Amino acid sequence: MKIAVLPGDGIGPEIVAEAVKVLGVLGLDFDMQTAPVGGAAYEAAGHPLPESTLKLAMESDAVLFGAVGDWKYDTLDRPLRPEQAILGLRKHMGLFANFRPAICYKELTHASSLKPELVAGLDILIIRELTGDIYFGQPRGRRVATDGHFPGAEEAFDTMRYSKPEIERIAHVAFQAAQKRSKRVTSVDKANVLETFQFWKDVVTEVGKQYPDVQLDHMYVDNAAMQLVKEPKRFDVVVTGNMFGDILSDEASMLTGSIGMLPSASLNAKGQGLYEPSHGSAPDIAGKGIANPLATILSAAMMLRFSLNQEAAAQRIETAVQQVLAQGLRTPDIYSEGTTKVSTREMGDAVVQALA
Ligand code: IPM
Ligand code: MG
Repeated sequence: MKIAVLPGDGIGPEIVAEAVKVLGVLGLDFDMQTAPVGGAAYEAAGHPLPESTLKLAMESDAVLFGAVGDWKYDTLDRPLRPEQAILGLRKHMGLFANFRPAICYKELTHASSLKPELVAGLDILIIRELTGDIYFGQPRGRRVATDGHFPGAEEAFDTMRYSKPEIERIAHVAFQAAQKRSKRVTSVDKANVLETFQFWKDVVTEVGKQYPDVQLDHMYVDNAAMQLVKEPKRFDVVVTGNMFGDILSDEASMLTGSIGMLPSASLNAKGQGLYEPSHGSAPDIAGKGIANPLATILSAAMMLRFSLNQEAAAQRIETAVQQVLAQGLRTPDIYSEGTTKVSTREMGDAVVQALA
């Protein structure tokens, strides 16, 4: 079981260290190799995704990823910015299926910005297509406009596009995920305006016919954004394109009150995966020992389940995390009165303890 460990920037190294510690006590035989990525790799090797890091990732069964990005790199040319590392890994490894659960832990119901009764028991799975859409569509660039409202003016453009097989494969992923849950899929689109998303809706509908046991409905993205804060529990599996999924998954994660708790998985057709917390690199709190390592530890559990075929070990980690929450241990992001504030490392140690 070969794992590429890519800690990255900001709080990345601190939280990944805790996940590695947890993996280390499972009694399983991992070959873990660490490599720089993001801003850290730019500093060390002049590129956010060095050839050697990409090679290691491609040759591994799974990638355990921290986070990338820091404001100090905002002025670099786009190809050198830390975000290019994660986009490059998605593209080169073909990680088209992104799983982003938004779960409201019962201990953290009151940390949500929504009323407790709206989020108690919330368990949504957002499935975001991750290698297509306007993120990767060509052509893109800057040029002088020859038409439009201001011919002769400078303009920039990106291309939103999806091919039929791209939509079909992510739709299958969503329907199959729903079969293991409450058998409901909401496909989010903008079919009322965009050709790309009318096509999306048509193709998802067609694929849905192969899953008569799953109930499919369609929702425009603006309405979905509204429903997520109005009545989030109406959703179960949500499937959508790359850009809408980017936006809706941040919205959904925040209303659980526990963004520091949410893992994610990005899979390719071979079952290789990249596992990372849903939150970012949080450079403002980096190095202070206060970041929440649980999202990364839970990402390691997803890695065991989806890429390494170790379901039992995945469940052991998830149970251990439930236990430390039940013990009242909290990093500052999820702290509330009456609970015990702990550091990043203490939280990792507590999970290790619970596993023993
Ligand atoms: C995410 C992030 C990335 C994205 C950035 C860092 C490129 O926001 O994983 O959601 O937009 O996909
Ligand atoms: Mg995002």
